[in-house]
Amino acid sequence: MDNPSVAIIGAGAVGRVLARRLTARGYRVEAVLSRSEAGARALAAEVEAPVASASLADLPEPARLVFCCVPDDAVGTVARGLGPVRSDWSGTVVAHTAGALPAAALYNLGEQGASLLSFHPLQTFTAASRPEAFDGIYVALEGDARAVALGEEVAAGLGARSITLATEAKARYHLAASMASNYFVTLMALVGEVLASIDLDRREGAALMRPLVETTWRNLAGQLPEDALTGPIARGDRRTVETHLDALDEHLPHLIPVYAALGTEAVRVAVRSGRLAPDAAQHVLDALHDALGPYYKEP
Ligand SMILES: NC(=O)c1ccc[n+]([C@@H]2O[C@H](COP(=O)([O-])OP(=O)(O)OC[C@H]3O[C@@H](n4cnc5c(N)ncnc54)[C@H](OP(=O)(O)O)[C@@H]3O)[C@@H](O)[C@H]2O)c1
Repeated sequence: MDNPSVAIIGAGAVGRVLARRLTARGYRVEAVLSRSEAGARALAAEVEAPVASASLADLPEPARLVFCCVPDDAVGTVARGLGPVRSDWSGTVVAHTAGALPAAALYNLGEQGASLLSFHPLQTFTAASRPEAFDGIYVALEGDARAVALGEEVAAGLGARSITLATEAKARYHLAASMASNYFVTLMALVGEVLASIDLDRREGAALMRPLVETTWRNLAGQLPEDALTGPIARGDRRTVETHLDALDEHLPHLIPVYAALGTEAVRVAVRSGRLAPDAAQHVLDALHDALGPYYKEP
């Protein structure tokens, strides 16, 4: 089957890189529509799309795959704005790229005959991202059968793999993705903050940690977290954990809850690995739960 003609709505980080990759892979981008006409024009020129506009009413008839690459909170507004643009939406797949939202966020277009798709590329995109950012990534799909089948084709065309999710799995899938990327970045920012408290600037701190982080990442690529975990908690060294907590209490008390919460989870990982015996685990947990205070919850 021929590739459907595409419209991109939202010329931001995802819209830009998606339009560029689709064009490079043989899809025709018929239109770029965005909140600002300048943004739409710039991307349309790059991918040789004949239509560039700040008005959804300019969605051209040939576009049979419409990607809404707008902020999550704008997806419903854009769907409602698109409704009156066509009297009959059958024969068109409308997709959004929001990880946490179901395809049903576009429900009004479904009621008008469109097939609905949630098409979430599991990658972090910035304004500087290149089309190669799609190489080998996963795209999470959710929606009606026809839309998901097209989503699989498009993902493969982009050079990505796809996974299909049940609607009720989407929030937890996106939670996992956010933790993997955003919380990892945040954790490294906290590491920098601890190092700054001993007068290592951000660049020095990052250089100091890089080999440790890179080896940890390589270990995780080939092993389960249970097998990759090292350090005082995996060894059951309660005294060392107490030394950390004392240092936090004296210098960075606001980090105690996050240290103790992650430490509690590290104990569970260590117990699952079989390296930390339950009685030694409880010894470490007692120190962490004292620190966590009312924030502690039994799993
Ligand atoms: N960035 C990521 O790493 C990433 C990864 C996977 C999925 N996503 C998802 O992809 C979607 C877009 O994210 P993004 O990072 O590309 O956001 P972004 O860079 O902020 O871009 C959003 C674009 O949407 C346009 N826009 C905003 N409101 C609009 C409206 N009412 N009508 C038409 N256009 C509108 C903006 O247009 P103007 O620039 O013209 O004002 C902006 O260019 C989100 O649902 C996000 O969850 C993001």
